[in-house]
Amino acid sequence: MSLSVALTKGRLEKAAAEMLEEAGYGVEKLKNKGRALVFADTEKDVRYFLVKANDCITYIEHGVADIGIVGKDTLMEGGSDYYEMLDLEIGKCRFIVGGLKGCDPLQKNGHIRIGTKYPEVARRYFASRGMDVEIIRIEGSVELGPVLGLCDGIVDIMETGTTLKENGLEVYDTVARISARVIVNKASFKLKRKEVMTFISDLERIVKKHAEGNQ
Ligand code: PRP
Repeated sequence: MSLSVALTKGRLEKAAAEMLEEAGYGVEKLKNKGRALVFADTEKDVRYFLVKANDCITYIEHGVADIGIVGKDTLMEGGSDYYEMLDLEIGKCRFIVGGLKGCDPLQKNGHIRIGTKYPEVARRYFASRGMDVEIIRIEGSVELGPVLGLCDGIVDIMETGTTLKENGLEVYDTVARISARVIVNKASFKLKRKEVMTFISDLERIVKKHAEGNQ
């Protein structure tokens, strides 16, 4: 039975393709793709398509994709009707609380405003600290929020820290460590169990190999 795999566009794309290739999957077309969004590896009978992170969960939950590769940041923000099967240990970054240098939003008394692309993650974090917070949803360039006075701080992902630094912000806390995960549609897990488990164990082998190489 063929497998459909939803891959997240952008940040994770290259590392995920390299990992699949190392695991013996034919992703040559993915690496030289131009603007195309669907690719097939006829030998392995796997179809890949490239989607935005949030849509990866949507395709999985609707059963259009059997398997998805998506960041834990996206999984923490929404959706739950899937199985999270494997940490690929790539695309590693952190969810952080940031603010302007010398203006720690966590030390501010009373009501604070937090800008973020991840309102659920931010809401849960501040609720656990019992803080009075107003979450302001921003679609991108989140670091601009405190610079322009829209908010007192941000909850965002940080990879190299360059964007924060170049905009005069610093990290005040780590909310969670994140990396790319493999998720599986619940029905596919039953109906295509053999194919799904082969795909996952092929990737798991590479995760272990990388971990051993890093020791
Ligand atoms: C993400 C994130 C930060 C930046 C962090 O944004 O929201 O802005 O990357 O990366 P760094 O620590 O390596 O500098 P993205 O590039 O996805 O763009 P966007 O804010 O426009 O969504």
